[in-house]
Amino acid sequence: MTLPSPYHAPGFYDVALAKGRHRDIVGGRWEETPRIVLPLLAQHGLQPTDHLLDIGAGALRLGRHLAPQVAGYWATDRSRALMLKGWETELDDATRASLSQSRLIEDTAFSFPGIPATITFALAFAVFTHLPPDHLATALANLRPRFPTLRRLTFTVFLAPDGHSGPYRQSDGVVTHPDRFPWHMTERQALAIATTAGFTATRHDHRLPRGQTLFTADP
Ligand SMILES: C[S@@+](CC[C@H](N)C(=O)[O-])C[C@H]1O[C@@H](n2cnc3c(N)ncnc32)[C@H](O)[C@@H]1O
Repeated sequence: MTLPSPYHAPGFYDVALAKGRHRDIVGGRWEETPRIVLPLLAQHGLQPTDHLLDIGAGALRLGRHLAPQVAGYWATDRSRALMLKGWETELDDATRASLSQSRLIEDTAFSFPGIPATITFALAFAVFTHLPPDHLATALANLRPRFPTLRRLTFTVFLAPDGHSGPYRQSDGVVTHPDRFPWHMTERQALAIATTAGFTATRHDHRLPRGQTLFTADP
């Protein structure tokens, strides 16, 4: 049976974490990713007053920068152990002191257990690139009722042109697939998923690591 992603392999996190590979689990590019993504979040409306939910936060590659920049930071991931490794090894002392581990919550179903309803901004960077399209649909459908004050979600996916079938080579060479990891969808599919869940989504043509495409989605 083909797994939806490498993250679904039994023992994947345990083995990689035991080898000290928490940065590799989220794809490396430890300095480049925040350098590119943080200004885009500001450009797309993230403010210091926001209560931010970092969905699929991994080893806090972005979270370590974002947590000190916003009024409140919460994170979810399929592996809490991965987030805790980021908390232990990647945060500076001030951020570690101010970010309670209780805000790092394991969540495999995008149901956001224990996250306060006060979230105003959500981010899912390089998460739905790794998962079948129905995961994006589930996440969006759950976000809407859980967080009534949510202003905006930003997320990334890999896109393939309308009508394309089979594997597709992204701008920086990554080959993505409609039916297995790493996953792509069409822009039309992404917009339709957002509309069905009660969001208006917009595609943005920024140059992102590995050729991902950024969308904003507003309730
Ligand atoms: C490429 S990493 C990106 C991590 C982080 N967003 C960043 O940019 O550094 C993808 C993350 O998605 C998480 N993930 C995979 N499936 C998930 C699921 N069903 N629910 C929540 N997180 C998931 C993985 O554990 C991993 O941390």
